[in-house]
Amino acid sequence: MIISKKVEFSASHICRSEHLSDEDNERLYGAASNPLGHGHNYIVEVAVSGDPEPVTGMILDLKHLKDILEERVLSVYDHRLLNREVAPFDRVVPTVENIAIDIWNRLEPHIDPTGRARLWSVRVHETNDLFVEYRGEK
Ligand code: NI
Repeated sequence: MIISKKVEFSASHICRSEHLSDEDNERLYGAASNPLGHGHNYIVEVAVSGDPEPVTGMILDLKHLKDILEERVLSVYDHRLLNREVAPFDRVVPTVENIAIDIWNRLEPHIDPTGRARLWSVRVHETNDLFVEYRGEK
């Protein structure tokens, strides 16, 4: 069974790679490569898999899930300029793909201290019509 929780944060980013020429950055990322940056209201859906524990009837402690989302994601990402304020985006382009991978890496080791439930997927919506889903390295 899979249980999912949704949270939102606002952040700004600059989509520009230091490994590409100005011309290629412009061509690939368009206006998103503007060095002044621009913002999004990101929606993150975290899915956790497991079986309901017989006594509690729950896959995992939802208070714990809420707390780690707050601690490990929202307090890190909310109202930040990702390229300057959130590692690894000083070296990695903060595309929605890389944001999903980073959120997975931040959450995965902490998802359930009892080890019963596991992180299943991280979805990050950057706009109304664009989102990615990451399920770890398989
Ligand atoms: Ni953008």
